[in-house]
Amino acid sequence: GENKMWGGRFSAGPDAIMEEINASIGFDRKLYAQDIAGSRAHAAMLHKQGILSADDHVAIDQGLVTILGEIEADTFVFSRALEDIHMNIESRLRELIGPAAGRLHTARSRNDQVALDFRLWVRDQCDAIAAQIETLIKTFLTRAEEHADTVMPGFTHLQTAQPVTFGHHCLAYVEMLARDHSRLKDARERMNENPLGAAALAGTGFDIDRHATSTALGFREPTRNSLDTVADRDFALEFLACASICATHLSRLAEEIVIWSTPQFNFVRLSDKFSTGSSIMPQKKNPDAAELVRAKVARINGSLVSLLTVMKGLPLTYSKDMQEDKEVVFDAAETLELALAAMNGMIADMTINKDAMRAAAGSGFSTATDLADWLVREAGMPFRDAHHITGSAVAMAEKQGCDLAELSLEDMQSIDAAITNDVFNVLTVDASVASRTSFGGTAPENVRKQIVYWKERLG
Ligand code: ARG
Repeated sequence: GENKMWGGRFSAGPDAIMEEINASIGFDRKLYAQDIAGSRAHAAMLHKQGILSADDHVAIDQGLVTILGEIEADTFVFSRALEDIHMNIESRLRELIGPAAGRLHTARSRNDQVALDFRLWVRDQCDAIAAQIETLIKTFLTRAEEHADTVMPGFTHLQTAQPVTFGHHCLAYVEMLARDHSRLKDARERMNENPLGAAALAGTGFDIDRHATSTALGFREPTRNSLDTVADRDFALEFLACASICATHLSRLAEEIVIWSTPQFNFVRLSDKFSTGSSIMPQKKNPDAAELVRAKVARINGSLVSLLTVMKGLPLTYSKDMQEDKEVVFDAAETLELALAAMNGMIADMTINKDAMRAAAGSGFSTATDLADWLVREAGMPFRDAHHITGSAVAMAEKQGCDLAELSLEDMQSIDAAITNDVFNVLTVDASVASRTSFGGTAPENVRKQIVYWKERLG
C-alpha cells in the first residue's frame, strides 16, 4: 500500500526492489537511542516555545519512553516498508498515542534528524574508543616499567641498528596511541555542534530554540548554517580518519608481534589465550590475533575511502547517497574496538624473552656507532673519520667471525693507534643504551622519567 507518512501525493506504493534499495532500517536501527533522545529534546523544546501543548508533550514523551523500552526488550517490530529508524519510531508512536504523534515532526526534517542521530552516535564512539586507547596506553606503561632496562635490538630496514630498551619501544607505542587519543578528542570537539533545527535544509519559520536542544543533548552550541548542517558528514569522515590512523598503528604493532614471536626471533611468547595451534603441525603456536589485527586495518581504511568517495561528488545539500554513511562507520568502529581489545590482551599477557632480546641486541655489530662516538670523544677525531675507522674494525671482526668487543686491543690499535683499552667499556649493549641520555633517547633513566611523565599526564 501507499506510504502512511507521505502518501498524500502518491497513488501507488513502492516496487519491492525500490523498497529494498531504499530501506536503511536493517542497519540504522542501531541509532534508536539517539533518535529517541533527539525526539524527546525536540518535543520538550517545542513545548517550552509554546508550539506543542502540555498534553501532547506528555503523550509524546511517554510514548517515546515506551518505545525505547520495547526496542530494548526486543519486542519492537521493525518494518522495512517504513524505511528507516525515524519512520519506524514515529509510526509506532502514532499507534501508541494517536494523531498527536504527527506533531512531533513540526519544525524538523529527517535531514536534520539523521544528522543529529548519527552525530550523537559517532560522538559516543569517540569517547568509547578514546577510553580503550587509554587502557592500552596503561598496559604499555606497565610493560615499559617492567622492562625499562631490558635491552633489545633497535631496527632500521629491519636490520639491527643500535641497542634500545624494550621499555623505550613500548613508549614509542604510547606516543602513537596518545596522538590517536588526542585526535579523537579534537574530532569530538569539532563535531560537538547541534544539527537539530536546520530542518530540511533552510531552517524553519517556527520560533524554535536551538540553544535549548543543544544544552539538552550535550552539544557546545548549534551549527551555524542550515545548508552545511544537512550536507555535512565531516564528523564521520574525521572519525574514520582517526580510526584509520589508530588501526595503522595497531597493524604495525601486530606486524612486530608476528615477527617477534617467530622461533627465529623468539623475543616474545604470546599467551595461550591469545594464540592458536595448527590442526596438523603439533609444534605450532600461531599469532592469529595479531595477523587479524594487521588485516582488519584494511576494512577501516576501506571505510574511510568509501565515505570520502560517496561524499566527493554530492551537490549541496542532502542526497540519499548519504544514507551510505552509516554501515561503513558502524563497521569501522566495531572493528577498531575489537582490534584494540585484542591488542590489549596480547600485550598484557605476552612473555618477554629478555635473553633472546639481549643476545640479538649484541649481534650485528650493533655498538659500532658507540665505537665511532668514542673515537670522536676520546681521540678528538671528526665523526666522518671515526665512521670510516669503525667500518674497518667491523670488517676485521666480520673476517674473524667475532663481535667488535671480541677484537683484541692489538687488532684495534692496528686500525687506529689512538685506541686504548677504555674503548671496551663502550662496546657492551648495556653501556650503549645507558649512554643514550639525550632527551627522548633510550637510556633506562630516560625511560623511567618518561613513564613518570605519562602517569602524571594520564592522572
Ligand atoms: N534514512 C535516511 C538516511 O540515512 C534518513 C534521511 C532521509 N531524508 C530524506 N530526505 N530522504 O540518510
